[in-house]
Amino acid sequence: MSTTTIIQSPPQFETKDLKVFAPQTYGDWRDEFHKNGCVVIKNVVSPERAQYYADKQIQWLKKFDLGFDENDESTWTADHLPVAFKGGMYFAYSAPHEKMAWEARMEPTVIEIFEKLWETKELITSFDGMNISMPRRTDITWSPWPHCDQNPKRKGMQAVQGLLNYAPNGPNDGGLMLMRGSAKLFNEFFAHKRESFDHEDAPPPEMKYMDLFLFSKKDVKWFEERGCELIKVNMDPGDFVLWDSRTMHYAKFPEGNQIRHVQYICMTPREFATEEALATKKECLEKWYGTTHWPHCNVRAASDPPMRDGKVCSKDRSEPFEKPEITDRLLQLAGVKAY
Ligand SMILES: [Fe+2]
Repeated sequence: MSTTTIIQSPPQFETKDLKVFAPQTYGDWRDEFHKNGCVVIKNVVSPERAQYYADKQIQWLKKFDLGFDENDESTWTADHLPVAFKGGMYFAYSAPHEKMAWEARMEPTVIEIFEKLWETKELITSFDGMNISMPRRTDITWSPWPHCDQNPKRKGMQAVQGLLNYAPNGPNDGGLMLMRGSAKLFNEFFAHKRESFDHEDAPPPEMKYMDLFLFSKKDVKWFEERGCELIKVNMDPGDFVLWDSRTMHYAKFPEGNQIRHVQYICMTPREFATEEALATKKECLEKWYGTTHWPHCNVRAASDPPMRDGKVCSKDRSEPFEKPEITDRLLQLAGVKAY
């Protein structure tokens, strides 16, 4: 049993779009985003910069001294890796606050995406995790888990998630599956009573995940019958994908030869956040805890220790290996310092 107290901001359920966008043509990626609820933005960082981040992620895995070797496939097992969710998502070990994670969030071209989207420079970021997935893992079971990260009680566009992609990502590689167009049907779908699907990897009910809904195969069909399309997002190193948090999505199991390297990044206007949510963020930063994808509400500390064979992982840690430089700009994005 974990003895960690859960730091969490109080529930706040808005029932409308948090920003109203005037109908217009932007002449850039925003047109596709507003039409489909998702879009890939090419070349946000250079291939060289993406390689830098992929290398940093490999170095991070090796710092745990569990025998992981990126060139020896026999070490691509849970025994040689820190504890991950779904075979590659890292939220524990202060991973969301590693210098490389903050460097990615603070790439000017990454921030610019969210500035353009929300039409403000006063943004706050989530303390999201990363995904480093080895392909062809045989020591883990995996099944699709279509879900959305927005509570059915929240209506309208309230958060937009994203990820910065570091490695080549083709049809056989692990990567993001998106139900294109599903964000727009969110209200219609949830106008009926819906039960969240009991997936094998669903969090236990006591975790009370505020913004997670798991879809069944029947639900997937419901969206497809209404013109939505389940797509595998293929990306080049340095590309960024954005999706409205009402969009059904999941990560595809990597089957090719390529290790998947991703940093999840999400930013929303600071004005969406309550003082309580900002106070929670401050505490999370001070304790090096990650959060959910949500920057401005549902700020729930990822404070559960990583569990290995029923015990807290002996490699658990309470600070990043490489801390970020705490600048005023970082504190603004963290929601700690006002604009
Ligand atoms: Fe998700």
